[in-house]
Amino acid sequence: MRFTQLGKSGEQIPVVGMGTWKLGARREAEIEAIREGLRLGMNLIDTAEMYHTEDLVGAAVSGAKGVFLATKVSPNHFRYDDVISACDASLKRLGVKSIDLYQLHWPNSDIPISETIKAMEKLKNDGKIRHIGVSNFSVEEMEEARAAAKSSDIVSNQVEYSPYVRYVEETVVPYCRKNGITVIAYSPLARGALSNTSSITTTTIKRIASRHGCTPAQVALSWLTSKGNVVAIPKAADITHVRENAASPEIGLSPKEAAEIDGLQDDSVTPVASRLNKFTKKTASFWSSLMDKRERLRVKHGI
Ligand SMILES: NC(=O)c1ccc[n+]([C@@H]2O[C@H](COP(=O)([O-])OP(=O)(O)OC[C@H]3O[C@@H](n4cnc5c(N)ncnc54)[C@H](OP(=O)(O)O)[C@@H]3O)[C@@H](O)[C@H]2O)c1
Repeated sequence: MRFTQLGKSGEQIPVVGMGTWKLGARREAEIEAIREGLRLGMNLIDTAEMYHTEDLVGAAVSGAKGVFLATKVSPNHFRYDDVISACDASLKRLGVKSIDLYQLHWPNSDIPISETIKAMEKLKNDGKIRHIGVSNFSVEEMEEARAAAKSSDIVSNQVEYSPYVRYVEETVVPYCRKNGITVIAYSPLARGALSNTSSITTTTIKRIASRHGCTPAQVALSWLTSKGNVVAIPKAADITHVRENAASPEIGLSPKEAAEIDGLQDDSVTPVASRLNKFTKKTASFWSSLMDKRERLRVKHGI
């Protein structure tokens, strides 16, 4: 595994970590898959209070050393007191004393960012979190968050980024590179669309994969993580996928191959963020009712 610096923190994180959204259907096998990923150096694990996978992650990392845990507070919890209690609940579910990276899941324009950041800095000063990150933030929103921070900086912005979803290249990625902020690429495999069997995996990626004797998913991860300030967090419940993802940084694309993928575009994959960003202008009450509805459905269906 290759490691890179998280923001300007001096802390090293692997260029490929593990996402955990939608885990939970096969709990024991998934815990084993996460542990295999840890053994292979993918010690960055991403979760969120909204995913309902923090307890699964907590079980998977219990007793493990050197794990870097990233989780997120939901936008309906961006009031000062709510941030504090959401963090306490996450710490409990994860079974740890401190969260390595605590991220604001999406912007919520209904709550002043200064109030939310104040709570994040309080958590940091109290040792409950180690680093502050954001997710789905535009450049303007990152600047507002950074201006509100008194004693710390934002170390990362987690955004959707894959060979097929590239809008962050216009402003977010260059801004992060210039300002020493790590881009954490979510849905780096276009939510499973990047595979040999998928009809939308382009011949370009398949050809490069076949030349390297690897899979299209590995090519995608290798391309992302060759960009310098980008780390990827693929989700994999299948242990074979976990092993492939962990080996991806070793593939070493040539500059010509990277440029070929740079030239790809495929609008058939709708970015998650383009749908979610519609939510970001909504009010806190909208967020609360959305979260309540999700929770009711989760309980009803036992998931
Ligand atoms: N901040 C946000 O708003 C946000 C939004 C979305 C996602 N995320 C984070 O990003 C993580 C990853 O994104 P995602 O889950 O949306 O999608 P993804 O990682 O792009 O794709 C996951 C899919 O790819 C498959 N896969 C994994 N490794 C593979 C490989 N080597 N070859 C072929 N297929 C492979 C997985 O199958 P198996 O599971 O069967 O192995 C799964 O179906 C999430 O889990 C979450 O932590 C954050």
